[in-house]
Amino acid sequence: MNTKYLHINTIGCQMNVNDSELIEKVLAQLNYKITSSMETADLIIVNTCSIREKAEQKAFSYLGRLAGLKRKKPDLIVGIGGCVAQQEGEKIMERMPHIDLIFGTHAINRLPEIVRQIELKRNRIVDVELSDKIDEFESSSVSKENRKVTSFVTIMRGCDNYCSYCVVPYVRGRETSRHPDSIIKEIQEIVESGILGQNVNSYGKKERLCSFSQLLSSINKIDKLSRIRFTTSHPKDLSEELMFSFKDLEKLCKHIHLPVQSGSNRILKRMNRKYSIESYLNKIDRLRQIYPDIAITSDFIVGFPGETDADFKKTLDLVKIVKYDGIFAFKYSDRPNASATGFPEKVSEYKKKDRLKELLDLQEHYTAGKNRSMIGSTQLVLVEGLSKRQESRTGDKAFGVRDKKLQNAQWTGRTSTNKVVNFIRDENSIMIDENLTGKMVNIKIDNAFSHSLGGKLIDM
Ligand code: 5AD
Ligand code: SF4
Repeated sequence: MNTKYLHINTIGCQMNVNDSELIEKVLAQLNYKITSSMETADLIIVNTCSIREKAEQKAFSYLGRLAGLKRKKPDLIVGIGGCVAQQEGEKIMERMPHIDLIFGTHAINRLPEIVRQIELKRNRIVDVELSDKIDEFESSSVSKENRKVTSFVTIMRGCDNYCSYCVVPYVRGRETSRHPDSIIKEIQEIVESGILGQNVNSYGKKERLCSFSQLLSSINKIDKLSRIRFTTSHPKDLSEELMFSFKDLEKLCKHIHLPVQSGSNRILKRMNRKYSIESYLNKIDRLRQIYPDIAITSDFIVGFPGETDADFKKTLDLVKIVKYDGIFAFKYSDRPNASATGFPEKVSEYKKKDRLKELLDLQEHYTAGKNRSMIGSTQLVLVEGLSKRQESRTGDKAFGVRDKKLQNAQWTGRTSTNKVVNFIRDENSIMIDENLTGKMVNIKIDNAFSHSLGGKLIDM
């Protein structure tokens, strides 16, 4: 069989990054090899995201540009996958005649069969069927040679929460958890890992498998695994048991991403979030009592329909109380099927923009303060590789250990609290010749920036 080339453009979240790895894996069965060049590809797949309007626009503008390439190379197969494909289905066929294949979020394992049909018959196929069963084959772990220092393992998919602004339950289907045995087996194969789901702390509830904390405890026992990170959690499902996991499980990273979305109870109700600010703050207090140094990050939406200046002020007040380690904030956008799309009192674009800036500026102050307070401390860092700056200077990630230029290289990694640390090693370091990728090292922090820290390696 001839080797054919596959180019994947992944837009959006970690879930899509994992799905793209799975796409690469299943299409290897048809002899497709991944390429970073669109021009040499025989098959181009755009893995799309529809969580916010901007991501969807990005997908369509990229797909539009592929029309020219397809005119030049009529044999090229163009496919669209992910949440926009799931959401729009057949409609994309009419809108974009150069697309051969539309596959939804649950169709990845059927891709070899679908692509083979298109290769043979040159027909156009739509497969957007959603199922309630999680396919155990859905492990995305990539081949050994492509493996990074950290990987995410999908433990569940879909969501049953129906937050009123959110498209996820419609494009990713019902919440379904994987069996713990299959998760543990996958992690044993890849070791260093993060774990992934739309709402991980409700893991296993529906299927009565085991609690999320029990799953973490089993993962914690895996030999050679040094760290466990998870994303994303829903505040309503943050249990006392999970809070104690941070204290009791030495491999669990001391960071929780706990999206709150708004500081106003009135807006939270309209968002269908099922918690109040008082209960959220109680949980944060308890968490900090149990593990004082835990890093807490969050997501916010500004300009949700009906959000007044007074509601927004409550969001700012919340940020001042919690003093997050970092936040992501987004302007609200209407999403297909989400109930808030039909809500009145839409907030103007310019007001959303102003509120976003005010919120991010406020948080910047806390992020910078927290980072500055770490100067002078020593942090245990898991090294992910050369820093971006270094990669562009050398043009290659792989290198010989005795490369002189790289003895002064800048490396990058993360603390257990998920802070990015870029560091160098002293020329007298006993580790001067070593490739540090994948190692746990001690770094003395000597510099703080808005989104990262700088430091020097300390010999042990
Ligand atoms: N508009 C703006 N932001 C949204 N998010 C989800 N849906 C929307 C929407 N319709 C944000 C939430 C969520 C993050 C992943 O994206 O903050 O936590
Ligand atoms: Fe969307 Fe809410 Fe589910 Fe998160 S919990 S994926 S915001 S519906």
